[in-house]
Amino acid sequence: MRKPSLCRFSLSMAGDLVDKLDAMAKAKGGANRSQTVADMVRAQLIEHQGQRGTHHIAGTITLVYDHHRRNIQGLLTDIQHDHGPLIIATMHVHLDHHNCMEVLAVRGRADAVRRVADRLIAAPGVKHGKLTVTTTGQDFEA
Ligand code: NI
Repeated sequence: MRKPSLCRFSLSMAGDLVDKLDAMAKAKGGANRSQTVADMVRAQLIEHQGQRGTHHIAGTITLVYDHHRRNIQGLLTDIQHDHGPLIIATMHVHLDHHNCMEVLAVRGRADAVRRVADRLIAAPGVKHGKLTVTTTGQDFEA
């Protein structure tokens, strides 16, 4: 197979982010900045492709939010009710006085799961949100 040609491009980001990137690269065994960024892009592409399309996936959506923020719990509940069949179970943890963590177990078509995750993560007041995809277990033999 022909080796793909290298493409040079420049990036701009906050200096402290670059410092952290370099520290992470060093901790992972000294890969250079280009290799480290390329590895991160590859990982994101795999994740992105795994969350599109019509194949079935299982996974979790994790949300962290401040429950004092007006309407947030009602909004998150409304969104979850709109996608009831995809959500198998939910767990709510009170992290501290302000912050709640909600973990939703989800299962269904990749594009539909991604849509509900995007809506929840984009809800105003959600500080961090992440969809983690795993297999439904039917794709692999152990
Ligand atoms: Ni709570």
